[in-house]
Amino acid sequence: MAQIDWGRLGFEYIKTNCHIEYTYKNGKWDDGKLVDNDTIEISIAANVLHYGQAVFEGLKAFSCADGKVRTFRDKDNASRMADSAKYVSMPEVPTALFQEAIDKVIKENIEYIPPYDTGGALYIRPFEFGSGPVMGVNPSDEYKFIVYVAPVGPYYKGGIKPVNAIILDDFDRTAPNGAGMYKLAGNYAAGMHSSKLAKEKGYPIVLFLDPKEHKYIDEFSTSNFIGISEEGKYVTPNSKSVLPSITNKSLIQLARDLGIEVEIRPIEFEEVKNFKEVGACGTAVVITPLSSITRNNLTLHFGEECGPVFMKLYSTLRDIQYGKISDIHNWNREII
Ligand SMILES: Cc1ncc(COP(=O)(O)O)c(C=O)c1O
Repeated sequence: MAQIDWGRLGFEYIKTNCHIEYTYKNGKWDDGKLVDNDTIEISIAANVLHYGQAVFEGLKAFSCADGKVRTFRDKDNASRMADSAKYVSMPEVPTALFQEAIDKVIKENIEYIPPYDTGGALYIRPFEFGSGPVMGVNPSDEYKFIVYVAPVGPYYKGGIKPVNAIILDDFDRTAPNGAGMYKLAGNYAAGMHSSKLAKEKGYPIVLFLDPKEHKYIDEFSTSNFIGISEEGKYVTPNSKSVLPSITNKSLIQLARDLGIEVEIRPIEFEEVKNFKEVGACGTAVVITPLSSITRNNLTLHFGEECGPVFMKLYSTLRDIQYGKISDIHNWNREII
């Protein structure tokens, strides 16, 4: 039985009972196997180690109010991973296989799912990489698809706390016609240096501008940009160098349900100073409001409290995920 202090959980890797591992060889995926050992052995010439054929996903399963365990929008993660895989010439993991893997791993790790009243969740990390040996820059002929899980703590322990963001004009997350809309491991490696610089300056998150002109808002290194405009509209960029966030897609729907007008369009940096609320959204915390954005000598301030629109959207999404209110869009999938 797992000994976990649910109250102290953050967002860290914890070894569980097992993960699931599938291999793609000779043009097809095998039946997969549950593996207790959380290390793998691959060739020193494996594509992933040199040329970076690697994509991943991140989603959560929740212990709900009625005692059931449900994942949130896992089909969308499956199709996003398939899109990412295609971009780096890897075989797609079909949605049915993706969901089967998730089901099996969750069922084998029931005691690691944070109970409903702890506010935590089971984080699910599916990933795929080129495991076959290559010398030249070519796609691998063998792939692994693995899903592991780890319990994570509540979104916010002491209430929602806005954070300070920084724009570092010397760095881009992606290229104008690059891979920003895919969840490639390499995108995150490329963002580590700027994130480190930002943290050293005291900013927990970096906001990237469009890589072509540095005129428009793109997104953060691990989340999308959202804002509430002067007129009260939900505004988010439609840049092609931004990852299509499943949280953002859900918040857009919830905003529309609440009668809030939504605009998905280029957002000039110049416009942001007029916004009433600005924030980052993603699976990890749903919404992180920003208290400020700094660019060179300029700092825009947005207040030290989470604004009312983000608060409402945040609690509605959370209530759907935990089964406290009706899942009218059919986003949750019952696992246990
Ligand atoms: C670059 C980037 N943008 C946005 C997101 C948010 O996406 P989602 O809401 O699907 O977690 C993530 C996290 O996966 C991310 O890494």
